[in-house]
Amino acid sequence: MADAKIYTASTTAPVNIAVIKYWGKRDTKLNLPTNSSLSVTLSQDDLRTHTTAACSSQFSADSLILNGEPQDVSGARQQACFRELRSLRAALEAADPSLPKLSTLPLKIVSENNFPTAAGLASSAAGFAALVRAIADLYQLPQSPTELSRIARQGSGSACRSLFGGYVSWEQGEAANGSDSLALEVAPASHWPQMRAAILVVSAAKKGVSSTSGMQATVATSALFPHRANVVVPERMVQMKQAIRDRDFETFADLTMRDSNQFHAVCLDTSPPIFYMNDVSRAAIRVVEEINRLAGKRVAAYTFDAGPNAVVYYLDENEDLVLGSLKGGLKGVPGWRASVTAEGVQGLDQGLLEPLKEGITRVILTSVGSGPVSVQESLVGADGAVVRK
Ligand code: DP6
Repeated sequence: MADAKIYTASTTAPVNIAVIKYWGKRDTKLNLPTNSSLSVTLSQDDLRTHTTAACSSQFSADSLILNGEPQDVSGARQQACFRELRSLRAALEAADPSLPKLSTLPLKIVSENNFPTAAGLASSAAGFAALVRAIADLYQLPQSPTELSRIARQGSGSACRSLFGGYVSWEQGEAANGSDSLALEVAPASHWPQMRAAILVVSAAKKGVSSTSGMQATVATSALFPHRANVVVPERMVQMKQAIRDRDFETFADLTMRDSNQFHAVCLDTSPPIFYMNDVSRAAIRVVEEINRLAGKRVAAYTFDAGPNAVVYYLDENEDLVLGSLKGGLKGVPGWRASVTAEGVQGLDQGLLEPLKEGITRVILTSVGSGPVSVQESLVGADGAVVRK
């Protein structure tokens, strides 16, 4: 009798926020970057994608359901991930004929984010990391997270960094086939567990330029961009790794803010220019710069991706100073901790907080966290149907 069994494996995967930004591809098909990048993985207690990968002869074709909505799987990115993972499984099956031929069965991938997609947080990194990890677990692949990062990268560049927890680099590599363009763990979360992140979600009136098309435009038109990719980022990668090894927040913060600002500078230098930050984002920059000036040292660092949301990194020991200072602008916003009663830095001009009150719709208070975790809870039932939470 034919094997009609439903095979499943489930995982959760984290979001990561870069402190040295990936912006620019040297190969759009393989998603090979023009420069290395480095990120902090955020805790899955607050932000995570839960994915079940299932395969069975009962399924008619490959499918993907995200937050209850069927998605198109015919795109090159999805197809590359499915193809590469299947070929690793097929190699195992060829070496051991007793293994079930999972590589030949249609896949059903079911995925749920625990954060609102409307928040505009980059979910593709957690999404592709969870997809690759879940299928690798389903296929019982022996490959390491670094080896799997080569596959996740082809789904979305930043996804390769979400296969690890803690502090993660994506080394750009040199090979034309991308074999050395991989994610590496710089340090686990336990090395520097005091790192915190406050995500200030800013409402965006309209959807901006996607990262994929924005970075292509920058590579094609910005005169400043080659200097960033070839000169500035390689130096910063070395300095940032050292700052993380030394748990040197002042250097970490300086590099993080400079790199975010330079990424947005090359966006402005793109023709036509790309604006990801808005007035609320710029107000957040002013507040953080002022908190640091009044504190007499860098206690907070802002960074912005391809949208207006601010991510503010700080250390646990400075929580009162940083959150106490931001309190006036964030009180009453969903996600804010009412228990923050500290006064923050002395002498902060409260007027600087006014634009935050107007423009921030939600706060997510989180911290550095771990990489993908294998879980029991399955989003595909024993009958092969989707389980809604
Ligand atoms: C600004 O990884 O979303 O967040 O590879 O085209 O899917 P694709 O791009 P994506 O770009 C992320 C850009 C960034 C910086 C970063 O995360 O390093």
